[in-house]
Order: sequence, then structure tokens, then C-alpha cells
Amino acid sequence: MPQAKPLVIVTRKLPDPVETRMMELFDVRLNLDDHPFTREELCQAMAEADVLVPTLTDRLDSTVLSHAGPSLRLIANFGVGVDHIDVASAHQRGLTVTNTPDVLTEDTADMAMALILAVPRRLVEGERLAREGNWTGWTPTFMLGHRISGKRLGIVGMGRIGQAVARRARGFGMAIHYHNRRRLHAATESALEATYWESLDQMLARMDVVSVHCPHTPATFHLLSARRLALLRPHAYVVNTARGEVIDENALVRMLSQGELAGAGLDVFEHEPAINPRLLKMDNVVLLPHMGSATVEARVDMGEKVLINIKAFIDGHRPPDRVLP
Ligand code: DGY
Repeated sequence: MPQAKPLVIVTRKLPDPVETRMMELFDVRLNLDDHPFTREELCQAMAEADVLVPTLTDRLDSTVLSHAGPSLRLIANFGVGVDHIDVASAHQRGLTVTNTPDVLTEDTADMAMALILAVPRRLVEGERLAREGNWTGWTPTFMLGHRISGKRLGIVGMGRIGQAVARRARGFGMAIHYHNRRRLHAATESALEATYWESLDQMLARMDVVSVHCPHTPATFHLLSARRLALLRPHAYVVNTARGEVIDENALVRMLSQGELAGAGLDVFEHEPAINPRLLKMDNVVLLPHMGSATVEARVDMGEKVLINIKAFIDGHRPPDRVLP
């Protein structure tokens, strides 16, 4: 008798080639109209699936996880960040959690670098002005921004993406500084020509641009608190392509509106998809709708990782991208 294929429930629309491959391999329930799952739909999916493929828009807290049915064994997240999943609670229930690291590193680093360039050079402000027909001609003092070459970049979180940003920023002539839970190996540090700061506070007080690249965990929630943001100098810029929750967004908005910071480039927000309306009125911020990994290549590769993890698990092997609590 042929064995029944495992039921894989996918909570959002995935790139076509990924969905096609999934349908070849598994019994798949897709989200055809790509609506965000309600809590009830998530609980229902937990109860019915053998494998759940959620994304960062699904909050899998302990209550939702408590609806896991007897056949659910694997949560194969489409994405690297797992702050929307209570991984410890999943493990207690015997559920394996996987994610999709590596394949979005370069694209996310590109987006961070784009913001590091765009904000000090007033790229979006200038584009808006030109598009609105408000350009009256070149003058020596028109639309002056600030040079990034020779400036100090402070990277908060020097994992894969932080290091990829460091490599790019070196190419633009920036001096690389970083704070990380663990100091990098000497060889990596010297290849990146990066200076380590054990004290985040001390680093922040000396940087021209700060770029956030740590995951959101209970330990990093509001890591850039009002107190720490106040350590930044008024000419400093803040860039965040990691998670909105790492920065106290209200404090950031307050400082930007009071001229205590030069500007910010934000691809992520504390209450996505809501954006603080005060930010919308500011010229010195660039706001993006969580697009760091939004390339066809990254999203197809992320889907491929999800497939590899599911296949390994079903074949009785350890999935390559297991997330431990
Ligand atoms: C992730 O994978 O966690 C990213 O934030 C998606 O862009």
C-alpha cells in the first residue's frame, strides 16, 4: 500500500516554483488568496497538519502551540527570524522547529547598505522632490547630505548579516566597529578590519552610523532603549533591518523629532505593518516595508531550505536548520 503523503499546511503564498515543488512532494494545503491567518485558522492548522510552514506574520505563542494535533511534528518556518515562535514551548511539546538561514544574508546586507547610503545622502528626499516637480536647479548649497566615507559604522550584532554589512561598508571607506555577545575570532575580526566594543554604551557614544543586526529575543528587546539612544551623538544615523522590537521606537521617534538624531533608515518596525504616523512626516527618515530579503532569488532559496528541512525530517534525518531554544 502506498504511504499517505504528509499534510503540509503553508500559511502564506510562497513563490510559484516553491509551491509547485511542494505539491510534487507532499499533500499541501496552500493559502491561495494569501490572507494573513487569523488565530483561529492558525490553531486549526496546528490541529490538522503534519508539518506547518509559518512565516513571521504568524504568532505561534504557547496558546496557539497548545492546539498542536497528534500528527504535528515539525514547524518549518519560512524565514530566518523565529521571534514569532515560542521555540521553548514548541520543544516542550516535542515539536521540531527549523528556519532558513544563510540564503538571505547578502540581500539583507545589501538593503542595510542601501539605507546607510540613502539616509545621509538624502536619496529618497531628493527623488521625491524631483518627481514632484520641485527642482528649480543646481546650487552649491542645494540638498547637502553627509559623506559616509571615513565615518564610523557601529554594527550591533555581528552574525552572518552584520559581517556581510561590514564587508560592504569597508568598500565604502567606513571604519567598522561592532558589539556582539561574543567577540569574533581574531582572524575574522582582522579580515573585516573591525574594532570590537565589549560595551555597547561606549560604542554607541562614538559612532556616526549605527546598524542593527541582532535577532529579537527577550534579551534584545529594546536593546537600543531610550537611555542608550540618548548616548548617540546628534549627527548620528540609525539603520534597522533586523527587527523593530530591538529599538524603543517611541524613543527613536521622539529623538528624531527633537533633532537629537540626524536621521534613520528603517526596514522594520515595532508593530508591523503599522508605522508610527510621526515618522511618515519626517524627511530625514527612509521607511521600507520589511523588504530586506525581498528578492526573487532569496525567497526561492528560502523555500528550497524549507523543502530540504521537511524532507530531511520526514526521511528520519536531523533537518539541517534546526532551531534550539
Ligand atoms: C526573516 O527571514 O526573518 C526576515 O526578516 C524576512 O525578511
